[in-house]
Amino acid sequence: MQIIRDLPTLRTASAAARSGGRRLALVPTMGALHQGHLALVAAARQAAETVAVSIFVNPLQFAPTEDLSRYPRDEDGDLAKLRAAGCDLAWMPDVPTMYPPGSATRIEIAGPAEGFEGTARPDHFRGVATVCTKLFSQTQADVAVFGEKDWQQLQVVTRVAADLDLPIRILGHPTVREADGLACSSRNIRLAPDQRGLAPLLPRLMQTALDAIRAGAAPQPVLARATQQLLEAGFVPDYLALVQPETLAPWQSGPGRLLAAARLGEVRLLDNMAL
Ligand code: PAF
Repeated sequence: MQIIRDLPTLRTASAAARSGGRRLALVPTMGALHQGHLALVAAARQAAETVAVSIFVNPLQFAPTEDLSRYPRDEDGDLAKLRAAGCDLAWMPDVPTMYPPGSATRIEIAGPAEGFEGTARPDHFRGVATVCTKLFSQTQADVAVFGEKDWQQLQVVTRVAADLDLPIRILGHPTVREADGLACSSRNIRLAPDQRGLAPLLPRLMQTALDAIRAGAAPQPVLARATQQLLEAGFVPDYLALVQPETLAPWQSGPGRLLAAARLGEVRLLDNMAL
């Protein structure tokens, strides 16, 4: 596996990987890799001859109130996992490489970036859209693979790629879950043992709510009851909402996505499921 930290080397490696009509797939990450990321690497391997994984903790998507320095980092562990997973290129820029002094261009997005995480974390998707656009341009990847775990992010990146006519295919990969149903996330390691024990209640209640809605119950009261149950269990729920999968407008009929965010202590858990 080639570890690359500067743009000229990345450009040479990308050109070599894409020569003769071969494809390059990118898995953008912020490190602290877990099974979910490794499933994205495996999906990328199916989609292209060469797999690149970027590791960059993007300051632009953290609010000043969010502690960027506390984001889990484990470069050696991440590289060992990527080697074992068969990654070909690890793209590991530092902050001045990604945002050189004087950098002033940002990608603004409305539509699917509005509401939910966009409300809870203003400017978050501006940071995500900007860094993903840069990562696509830097790597010249043909395909990028994102986890469905961050459903809103997947819709945002898909929208950006379409709106900016970026020559890249965005692939979503189903959420990978722990044996007890909790969605894999880099944040899970920050849960205290009692919180970790409680956390799978979130996907369980989501599943129960979806079963009731599928059986014909009206979504509003079902979601209100699930929210109350989360509160009583010790979560601080932020939202539990049934939306249209791509626009995230309120669900009317047909395919839907149940989005959830709830805090357990200091850890914000996100999850989503298809109706
Ligand atoms: O999902 C993440 O890890 C990040 O938001 C991403 C897509 C790598 C952009 O920094």
